[in-house]
Amino acid sequence: MVSYKSKAVERIRLPSVEERERALEEAGYNVFNLAADDVYIDLLTDSGTGAMSDDQWAALHRGDESYAGSPSFERLESAVEDVMGFPYVIPAHQGRGAENVLYGTLLSEGDVVPNNTHFDTTRAHVANQGAEAADCPTEAAHDLSREEPFKGNFSVERAREVVSKVGAENVPVVISTITNNSTAGQPVSIENTRRVRAFADEIDATFVVDACRFAENAYFVHERENEYADATVAEIAREQLEYADAVVMSGKKDGLVNTGGFVATRDESLFERCKSRAILYEGFPTYGGMAGRDLEAMAVGLREAVEDAYIEDRIRQVRSLASMLEEAGIPIYEPAGGHAVYLDAGSFYPHLDSSEFPGQVLVCELYREGGVRGVELGSFAFPDSDRPELVRLAIPRRTYHREHFEHVLETAVDVYENRENVNGLRLATDPEIPELRHFTAELEPVSN
Ligand code: F0G
Repeated sequence: MVSYKSKAVERIRLPSVEERERALEEAGYNVFNLAADDVYIDLLTDSGTGAMSDDQWAALHRGDESYAGSPSFERLESAVEDVMGFPYVIPAHQGRGAENVLYGTLLSEGDVVPNNTHFDTTRAHVANQGAEAADCPTEAAHDLSREEPFKGNFSVERAREVVSKVGAENVPVVISTITNNSTAGQPVSIENTRRVRAFADEIDATFVVDACRFAENAYFVHERENEYADATVAEIAREQLEYADAVVMSGKKDGLVNTGGFVATRDESLFERCKSRAILYEGFPTYGGMAGRDLEAMAVGLREAVEDAYIEDRIRQVRSLASMLEEAGIPIYEPAGGHAVYLDAGSFYPHLDSSEFPGQVLVCELYREGGVRGVELGSFAFPDSDRPELVRLAIPRRTYHREHFEHVLETAVDVYENRENVNGLRLATDPEIPELRHFTAELEPVSN
């Protein structure tokens, strides 16, 4: 079942092989440097790349652009309160703006922050405060084939080890990222969220949920956590977020908009403290770097994101690409997560060492072969980590259809068949912030 049809369309085109070869070379083998017009199927990210509904487009016209006290802000406040349960909201231009506001307020030099897995901008914002990011994934997180319902969970045991090393006084914040983007979009259970809440209370820390994909997470809870089998996604989302003191949100994901984000909290004093930093970096706290019309679209999008019909469609689509690939024998991370299918580049290219960036090689091959753009989340994106070599094919919301995925499948099959004939890559430039190098670094082929 599909719960929508198209009202507007956008042309796309597959450039010739020669054009793709040239584009790749000119991009320094980094697909962030490609012109989007040279990409046929763009699975670089699900962030801000989805289609808005007709109700959201209509809401844009209602946008009030007052600098302070806009009614569009009030409509966003009501949506956040209804859908997520937080009374205090500070908009930001996108998720990382919200991270800057919240983590810049809560963290200082020498602090340590446990998180099930830090997304790259989160890690960079923690580092920017002079604090240290400590990933606390479960044991199953990096096992590509273990069938477990909540591989995205936060390991309280690991976080306890962190606290016993550095002292609770140096751990003012605990974060749970739902779904866990850097662990293949795997969900986090409500039972786990309750345990993290209790742990945060024990060490007197603020519990923050990175709620970018909270609706997708709620769907998995509905499906996999017995207690919630009869609850709606909207009810589950509310309950899961009830355990948090605050959320950072990128509206570009489950806000179903092209730009925007916010910090929301139930703690009035934290809200007051965040406001000053919001004014400094984002804008007056009733718009926070967003246009009034975008506040309106996000208010509508948040409500749509927890509609059962929408979210069922969304997860079904991701899952159908995963099963098409799996049936063709392409190695992928299993089970599929909420927003993307992750290819196992390590199994594509066992002959390449991690220093030759097998994931980035696979990203380049997918583009060269079929004009498909994915993103590397392995040794290129995460220097000095022991994570698996993954390539993420993120699926924009309400955008592509089965024919597009058939092309992705054919491309992946051709790339897989040619897997023994490719060489590695090496860095040609070395950007200043290593945590963000995959966005800008250029590479070059290693010749045999
Ligand atoms: N937290 C998580 C879990 C994210 O996935 C992202 C963005 C952010 C925070 C930052 O939000 O982009 O609005 O500033 N993830 C995108 C991605 C970029 O491709 O996964 P943002």
